[in-house]
Amino acid sequence: MEPKKDMEAMYRRLLDGNKHFSMNKKINDPEYFKKLSLGQRPDYLWIGCSDSRVPANEVTSTESGEIFVHRNIANLVVHTDVNLMSVLEYALVYLGVSHVIVCGHYGCGGVRAAMSNVMYGHVDNWLRNIKDVYQKNQTELNAIKDEDKRADRLTELNVIEQVKNLAKSAIVQNEWKKRPVHLHGWVYGINSGLITDLSVIHDGTEDIDPIYRFQI
Ligand code: CO
Repeated sequence: MEPKKDMEAMYRRLLDGNKHFSMNKKINDPEYFKKLSLGQRPDYLWIGCSDSRVPANEVTSTESGEIFVHRNIANLVVHTDVNLMSVLEYALVYLGVSHVIVCGHYGCGGVRAAMSNVMYGHVDNWLRNIKDVYQKNQTELNAIKDEDKRADRLTELNVIEQVKNLAKSAIVQNEWKKRPVHLHGWVYGINSGLITDLSVIHDGTEDIDPIYRFQI
């Protein structure tokens, strides 16, 4: 990789940017950080892609304190992922979030990589989950000749599968016994800045196969 221009300036920009951020917030509301420091009570858990172009707060015009966020490559919900499961449990049980959103995005490098046969390394173990989504839907996907359109559809199918994975988790099912929790699947368009709601709403175990329903 080419060395990027001025290493020091590149790094300083973030700290300078932080000073501006802090100052601007305090100009608008001198109590802004004091109020935030009292605690968080977010209504939403966002499970999104690590892609630098899909920042949860920015694309939803929300403020600090409003969204609990977990991001990984290609927004996957994997039941053996201790990190995600801890975030999910904490968000539902201790923060009491009401909406869990899986937000994928068109033009996802992870989805593209999973669609190919290129070997990238460790990430291939992770992307295997998307290959499984492809395999499960291969009749539909193979019928789409245009590669970009096929990637877009796989992106959507992947989001739908991850929302189902949430519904299959004991954490979510336990919470459903106590209160309403809504699971949503979204796709963000990097070239439009707009979110498409895929209308995959799960609010109970009715939508998943009986084998995945725990007796609670
Ligand atoms: Co992505």
